[in-house]
Amino acid sequence: MPGVTTEFTVTSPEQMQELGRRLAKLLRAGDLVMLNGELGAGKTTLTRGLGEGLGVRGAVTSPTFVIARVHPSLGDGPPLVHADAYRLGGGLDEMEDLDLDISLPESVVVVEWGEGKVEELTDDRLHVVIHRAVGDTTDEVRHVTVTGLGQRWATVDLGVLSA
Ligand SMILES: Nc1ncnc2c1ncn2[C@@H]1O[C@H](COP(=O)(O)OP(=O)(O)O)[C@@H](O)[C@H]1O
Ligand SMILES: [Mg+2]
Repeated sequence: MPGVTTEFTVTSPEQMQELGRRLAKLLRAGDLVMLNGELGAGKTTLTRGLGEGLGVRGAVTSPTFVIARVHPSLGDGPPLVHADAYRLGGGLDEMEDLDLDISLPESVVVVEWGEGKVEELTDDRLHVVIHRAVGDTTDEVRHVTVTGLGQRWATVDLGVLSA
């Protein structure tokens, strides 16, 4: 898959949250971030940092009983739309049917487990894949791969994420 990729290792939940805060600085309205990784990988933890970095209202939690949650900005930035595509069987159509009362192009949209479901939303997207270190379920080590796809990310330096 062509795109700008950066890989790094995260060794604690706090670091994952910090990664989210850094990521927030790169994001603007209309951006789509897809988070992939098994249950407990740290997708929601990263999104929590992202919400902090964006300065949005409300605690970011697993959207277990809702498909998506909207966190309005506390300032004049874009709202964060946090969706769990695991529950979003039908993909984008369903997303548009959610009647979120917000405009996706004016929001930062983060989708957990979005592979194969939300790609049609935009050619420009950021893929974040989180893997636990193999064979150790208690370890806090995570391998993170961030790939920017499309024109939007072609000239963005993702290296600042691991600084
Ligand atoms: N390096 C790490 N990054 C993120 N979470 C971690 C890390 N190490 C341990 N954890 C723990 O793993 C769990 C991740 O949960 P969560 O972020 O909800 O995952 P997901 O949304 O991918 O299912 C949390 O309990 C968190 O404290
Ligand atoms: Mg989650």
